[in-house]
Amino acid sequence: MALFALVPAAGSGTRLAGAQPKQYLPLAGRPMLWHAVRALCGVEVENVFVVLAPGDTEFARHDWSAFGGRVEPLYCGGATRRDSVYNGLVAASAAVDVDDWMLVHDAARPCVPRADLAALVAECAADAIGGILALPIADTVKRAGKDEAGVQRVAATEDRTQLWLAQTPQMFRAGLLAQALRDAKGSVTDEASAIEQLGLRPRLVTGSRENLKVTYTEDLAIAAAILATR
Ligand code: C5P
Repeated sequence: MALFALVPAAGSGTRLAGAQPKQYLPLAGRPMLWHAVRALCGVEVENVFVVLAPGDTEFARHDWSAFGGRVEPLYCGGATRRDSVYNGLVAASAAVDVDDWMLVHDAARPCVPRADLAALVAECAADAIGGILALPIADTVKRAGKDEAGVQRVAATEDRTQLWLAQTPQMFRAGLLAQALRDAKGSVTDEASAIEQLGLRPRLVTGSRENLKVTYTEDLAIAAAILATR
């Protein structure tokens, strides 16, 4: 069984820093997506499939030669992240066996440490289902609710002892993941939630805070500082 990676990078990323899709925002002299791909190429993946919007003209403007032909753009992104991953799996299926492992990783997580990736791959390769990088929640968690004046107030304090934050990569067998995403109901914001709908319980592999998701403008400076330490 081989190991592959797939990066959904077809979002328009409008929450952050203006008109440019966030996967192409400059970070340490490269587009953010480049760093996510580099991290994946640090483990033994055969190929990194990058799922792009059908009209993407930006990818071809950048230099991917550092990865020796292992990066394969697929211009089949969809309306949601889930659609982009599913379309990418279908497009990649000519090269990927249903039992091969697929690491799905957000372009918006450019700082995933090599040690986290290695731990995920080692633990999941020995697992019947697969799993995800995740972190136990350290902060106290509040449920919000608006009062009569429309002001956000604390409605309740949640028990955090069993709560983890899901990160990426998430590692599952390509065939099972495609089937899970195809059949999933409701909002599916990560691969694991589709697998869970099949009644399966993905493994939680402890990651680290360095693997932040770049979402807000200040996250870019944090990501640059993390990359500068390596
Ligand atoms: O918007 P968000 O940060 O949740 O996006 C997570 C990842 O999913 C990003 O890498 C983004 O490019 C990708 N995405 C996608 N297709 C979409 C929406 C998001 O590939 N339609």
